[in-house]
Amino acid sequence: MLTEVKDVLLQSKKLVVFTGAGVSAESGIPTFRDALTGHWAKHDINQLANATAFINNPGFVYSWYEMRRKQINSVQPNTAHEVISYLETIVPEFTLVTQNVDDLHERSGSTNVLHLHGSIHKPRCFSCSEPYEFTVTDNIKTDLIKSPPHCLKCGDYIRPGIVWFSERLPEDVLNKAEQSVNHCDVMLIIGTSGVVYPAAKLPFDAKQSGAKIIQINPTPTDFDMIADFNLVGRAAEILGEMFQTELHL
Ligand code: OAD
Ligand code: ZN
Repeated sequence: MLTEVKDVLLQSKKLVVFTGAGVSAESGIPTFRDALTGHWAKHDINQLANATAFINNPGFVYSWYEMRRKQINSVQPNTAHEVISYLETIVPEFTLVTQNVDDLHERSGSTNVLHLHGSIHKPRCFSCSEPYEFTVTDNIKTDLIKSPPHCLKCGDYIRPGIVWFSERLPEDVLNKAEQSVNHCDVMLIIGTSGVVYPAAKLPFDAKQSGAKIIQINPTPTDFDMIADFNLVGRAAEILGEMFQTELHL
């Protein structure tokens, strides 16, 4: 099946790659919902992933995202990220849509990454949305932060640059993603549980518009039923095997 899937990818004219936390797992970043290791297996999602939690406990919430940002900064993109950036160079129309808030796609050479859930590297003001630049002190601090930095414009707290539950996805990003999905001939889904909407709707839209669906994931998801090719396993391993010649692995 690997050769067949590789051919489908190489012959695609309009490819959408749709990624979730699983694509960064082999870089050493925990996913959210994997049993035992996932963030939401260890921490209460309600105390970390919505605006009310931030209002009630800004220092605690901000510290948790800072801990994650530093962990992301300390790891490297993996072979799956590399194969995705390679595909961008050979497929005529290529779109990368990610739910990830890390920058590992960019660091392995992908450009124009559509971040549906924002970026942990782009914090902003909680009130006026003014962007905030991390300082050298921010970057070396490792202990629990009592309170987040303040906005230089309005004085309110700086919040993580990600989308929390009950918040809207960035409209322009979602629109671009939907447009690509509605016109693609192949969609490659990698490492997402497919339980967070509206992101999880995109593969169903692609299927509806006639695209071939390829999935890479070690565990079952709702996308199994629409996948033309379901590769059960780890992304870096599978894509590394598929593209070992092209990537000189
Ligand atoms: P999840 O943690 O829900 O799902 C991760 C998926 O990756 C699971 O289906 C795993 O089986 C799979 N996986 C694990 N290791 C893998 C590997 N090596 N190769 C391929 N797949 C692997 O993460 P997401 O689906 O990304 O929201 O979660 C969606 C959203 O929920 C996230 O964007 C996040 C979270 O709350 C925000 O950050 C705003
Ligand atoms: Zn402000």
